[in-house]
Amino acid sequence: MTGPSVVDLRSDTLSRPTPGMREAIAAAEVGDDVYGEDPEINALEAEVAALLGHEAALFCPTGSMSNVLGVRSLVPVGQEVLCDSMAHIVRAELGSHAVVGQVTTRTWQSDSGRLDADVALGMAVPDAGAYFVSTAAIAVEDTHNFGGGTVQSVDELRRLRAGADALGVKVHFDGARLWNAHVATGLPLAEYGALADTISVCLSKGLGAPVGSVLVSSAERIAEARVWRKRLGGGMRQAGILAAAGRYALKHHIARLADDHARAQQLAVALAGVDGSIIEPDRVRTNIVASTWPTATAAQAFIAGCAAENIRVGAVGSRVVRLVTHLDVDQAGADRAAEALPAIAKQALVAS
Ligand SMILES: Cc1ncc(COP(=O)(O)O)c(C=O)c1O
Repeated sequence: MTGPSVVDLRSDTLSRPTPGMREAIAAAEVGDDVYGEDPEINALEAEVAALLGHEAALFCPTGSMSNVLGVRSLVPVGQEVLCDSMAHIVRAELGSHAVVGQVTTRTWQSDSGRLDADVALGMAVPDAGAYFVSTAAIAVEDTHNFGGGTVQSVDELRRLRAGADALGVKVHFDGARLWNAHVATGLPLAEYGALADTISVCLSKGLGAPVGSVLVSSAERIAEARVWRKRLGGGMRQAGILAAAGRYALKHHIARLADDHARAQQLAVALAGVDGSIIEPDRVRTNIVASTWPTATAAQAFIAGCAAENIRVGAVGSRVVRLVTHLDVDQAGADRAAEALPAIAKQALVAS
């Protein structure tokens, strides 16, 4: 007898291309993108630029590359980008902004990655002279991954934009999951687009494409980023087969993110029923449930208990375990997890 199938909640990067997406990949017309001749990539770039209301876009292999290209296009060598201390650009891009962009970072503390525009703007020191580092840009992550899929307040984003404009400081969005924020708030993508100078969006997270991110900005910045992409080894030739997957995802997989959000809420409610200090369901608004355990031992016991039930979850801190819903977690999978989690959580709390 075989056991129940695996419900893999470690990340939304784990989803595999759907049959429809595979058909789109198979049907893609391709050319050499370094020559600017891949029709799928050209179409994808035009579509994403239009969606976000920017002049131009650049298809990149990863969100990390797209963030690096975006930030370096805004921040001169030796100047700084400000962001929160849990931001992906400072926690999980392995120093690339320093190594490649030669920029420095300063961070603020946040509540689950939530932007407080006053805090960010209060740290900004443009044109600092010869003694302090000058601030060139502020980066905001929306939704916020390690914060638990946190959706930024649109009012705070607007206040940041206005304040940054007044200071002459640029704004970068790490919008790896901007699609989830858009579905959660209902704010049109073009309105998000107006709130930043450069935006990186990922096709390979909740949208379910196998590979790919897109940087949008002005035509001038994107032209320069195209040079830097090649410089970093990111010129990808007949990558239209990947762009085709991305275009398919944009058409078919944005609205369905609401299902992922509802399933994450279901998991959060199941865990909160055991102990409200593990997770507050009201704070889960998208597809990420960042559960906090009283001790590292309890967190490890929870992960092991889940694994024993063929449910995979992953640690993103010593006491923080992340559960992420995505295209490959259907309603039956979410139901099975929600049913199993309370007993596993109780056992884990006993272990702590
Ligand atoms: C918020 C955020 N930004 C950027 C990235 C980087 O994307 P990639 O893994 O494609 O480099 C990730 C990846 O998980 C992410 O969660």
